[in-house]
Amino acid sequence: MTERTMTGEELKTLRTTRKLSQDGLAKLLNEQTKRSYDRAKVSKWENGVDRIPDDVAALLRESSATVPTGIPTASTGPATILVVINQKGGVQKTGSVVNLAYLLSHKAKKKVLVVDCDAQGSATIHLGMYPPDLEIEGKTLFHVLFRKKPILESIVTTCDGLIDLVPSGISLAKADTEIGAMTNGELRLNTVLGAVRDRYDVILLDCPPHLGKITISALNAANQVLIPSNPEMLSIMGIPAILESVEEVQQTVNPDLSILGILPTRYDQRRSQDKARMQDLAGVAADNGLHMFPPIKNAVIYVEGVNAGQPALKLDPNAPGAEAFEEVMEALLEAAKQGKETANVA
Ligand SMILES: Nc1ncnc2c1ncn2[C@@H]1O[C@H](COP(=O)(O)OP(=O)(O)OP(=O)(O)O)[C@@H](O)[C@H]1O
Ligand SMILES: [Mg+2]
Repeated sequence: MTERTMTGEELKTLRTTRKLSQDGLAKLLNEQTKRSYDRAKVSKWENGVDRIPDDVAALLRESSATVPTGIPTASTGPATILVVINQKGGVQKTGSVVNLAYLLSHKAKKKVLVVDCDAQGSATIHLGMYPPDLEIEGKTLFHVLFRKKPILESIVTTCDGLIDLVPSGISLAKADTEIGAMTNGELRLNTVLGAVRDRYDVILLDCPPHLGKITISALNAANQVLIPSNPEMLSIMGIPAILESVEEVQQTVNPDLSILGILPTRYDQRRSQDKARMQDLAGVAADNGLHMFPPIKNAVIYVEGVNAGQPALKLDPNAPGAEAFEEVMEALLEAAKQGKETANVA
């Protein structure tokens, strides 16, 4: 009998120290080997029923420092928390969260958690998960915030192990009522994120298209705010209301909250109207002393990303707007660095 290159026990230890499920490990391997292993196969390897292929063993050993970890151990943090808000619907809030999460994990090798704060479950769906199943399992942000579900038990690993997610579904529609019924309900999200903040480098909060209590909770918990806006009058006219909400939170619960900038989205440079609205957007940014990032173009790849349950930048790393998302990522990482330096000095 040939000597095994890796025992089942060794594999299990490698997997569990990375907090990966058997399913999560299978997905990671498939990503790297282009095969189609599944949970049952990993189980057979771990139980010694099937031999672990030499190349799989070698890959796992070699990449043990770089393979994404799923739910990571407490080694990084405290995470910088970015909230993505705009009360206007359909301005690519969720698309920004999902694509930034992908870049931060895949490119910058950061440990990333996305928290879906929207009852529409858009981030959950965009990351390939099915909210009704998660509702049945009681694994959503609603259950974490209001039904005592430990946040670690609600986290699912998505995007082939690159992005962790606290999912949401329709139950979160009751969030504002539940928050209103609690003492300090708008600080509940701070408390639950506190339990995982040391496990991640970046936490991204995807907000619904309104400035209700769940959005205010997200602002209370965040360090940075990103405001995506498409070049349309109704979106641009809504920005002062967002800035008012941010200011209110800065003056009460969260004085250190900063605005990273405005991210123009869904921009079509062939349309003269879009060009004119971009000028308006730049004016609003300048009047309020805010940075404006280069625009994300209107492109079908972003629709395809949603349909595929994948970040568009994973489908096409050169998608129109990739450079703009990278610029946002760099700005966030720089702000995180500055924040940590300030914290060390204080
Ligand atoms: N840059 C883009 N180019 C073309 N289509 C886009 C782009 N960004 C988003 N879309 C399309 O618009 C839809 C809405 O985008 P997204 O869900 O990111 O917006 P949102 O602001 O989060 O919406 P909501 O307010 O409902 O939460 C997507 O499902 C996608 O089909
Ligand atoms: Mg959304």
